[in-house]
Amino acid sequence: MAVDPRARTSNRTIGQMVVVGVIASAIGVAWGLYIDWFPIQGSSQAKKIDELWDVLLIIAVPVFVMVVVVILFAVRDYRQRPGEELLDGPNVHGSTRLEIIWTTIPAVVIFVLVGYAATILSDIEEAPANAAQELKIDVTGEQFAWTFKYKGADGKDVNTTRLYLPKGRSVKFNVRSKDVIHDFWIPEMRMKVDAVPGIVTSYRITPIREGNYPVVCAELCGLGHSVMRQTAYVQSADKFDAWLAKQSAPAPAAAPAEGGGAAPAAAIDAKKLFTDGNGESIACGSCHQLADAGTPAGGVGPNLDMVLAGQSADMIKESIVEPEKVATKGFPPGVMPPNYGETLKPEELDALVEYLVTSTKK
Ligand code: CUA
Repeated sequence: MAVDPRARTSNRTIGQMVVVGVIASAIGVAWGLYIDWFPIQGSSQAKKIDELWDVLLIIAVPVFVMVVVVILFAVRDYRQRPGEELLDGPNVHGSTRLEIIWTTIPAVVIFVLVGYAATILSDIEEAPANAAQELKIDVTGEQFAWTFKYKGADGKDVNTTRLYLPKGRSVKFNVRSKDVIHDFWIPEMRMKVDAVPGIVTSYRITPIREGNYPVVCAELCGLGHSVMRQTAYVQSADKFDAWLAKQSAPAPAAAPAEGGGAAPAAAIDAKKLFTDGNGESIACGSCHQLADAGTPAGGVGPNLDMVLAGQSADMIKESIVEPEKVATKGFPPGVMPPNYGETLKPEELDALVEYLVTSTKK
C-alpha cells in the first residue's frame, strides 16, 4: 500500500506557515498596541494594569494567529477532494514527541503569565508603607446612587455624594451595598469591585492626576443602573484637606446623621441635605439638577428647576414621599426611592420642602 503523499506536511508548507504566522502576528501585535484601549491613567495602579494588558496582548495575539494559520493551511491541503467521499484519511497513531510539545509550551506560557499577573496583583493591592497616612472612605451603593463617608477632623462622619480624592495619597475604599449587588468603578483608576449586601469589599488606589472622573456602577442593578453615575473630584492634597476640614467643621446641624442633639429643627441646612443626604437617605442632588444647589444636569431624575417651579409645598412633599403617585413624563417609575418618608426625619422633610419651594420660585 502506497503511503498517501499528504500524510506528512512538507517542510515547504511548514515554512509557509511560519512566514505567514510571523507576519500576521507582527501586524496583530502592532495594531493591538496602537489601539488606545483605555481612558487616561488616573491612578498609579492604572499604569501597571495597562502594562499587564500589553504583555497579555503580545503573547495572546501570536497564539491566536498560530491556531488560525494551522486551520487555514489544513483546510487548503487536507480538504476532501472529488472522489474521496468514501475514503478514510491516513491512519495516524499517537506521537509522543508532539504530545510533549503541545503540553509543555502552553504550560510554560500559563505559568509565566500567572506568575507575572500575581506579581502585578500583589503590587497594586499593596498597603502603603505609612498605613496611618492612608485615607479610608466608606462607599455605600444603593438603588441608584453612591454615598461616601469620610472621617472628619474630629472623628465626625462626613457623608457626601461627591467623591473627593487627594492626589498622591493612597485611598482605600470599603464598599458596601444596602440592597442589591452594585459595582464600584472609576474607569480612569482601573480598579473595580462588587458592592455585595452583607459583606464589605475593598480596593485601594493612589490618584496621580487632578481632574473630574466618572464614578460608574458596573453591575446591572435595576431600572436606574445605566444612570447610577456620579463624579470623583481629584484635587491636590492641600485642597482636599481644606475641603474635608470644611465639611467636618462644627456648624449648626452640619451633621444631621448624628441626630442633631439640641439643634432645633430650624437649624437644618436644607441645601446640604439636598446635596449630601443625611447619611441614611440618598441625596436628592445625586439624581436631580437644581441650580441653587449647584447639582449637575444629566442625572437620573427630572431637573427640579423645571418640574418644581411654581408648585405648592404640598405637591412637592407628596412627590418626595410618594414618588409613584406624581410621575414626571419621560422618567421611568420605580427609580426614585419610595422610602423618603422613613429615611428623612419629619423636620428634615419640612425643611427640604421649604427649600425646594423657595429655590425653584422664579
Ligand atoms: Cu447600581 Cu448598577
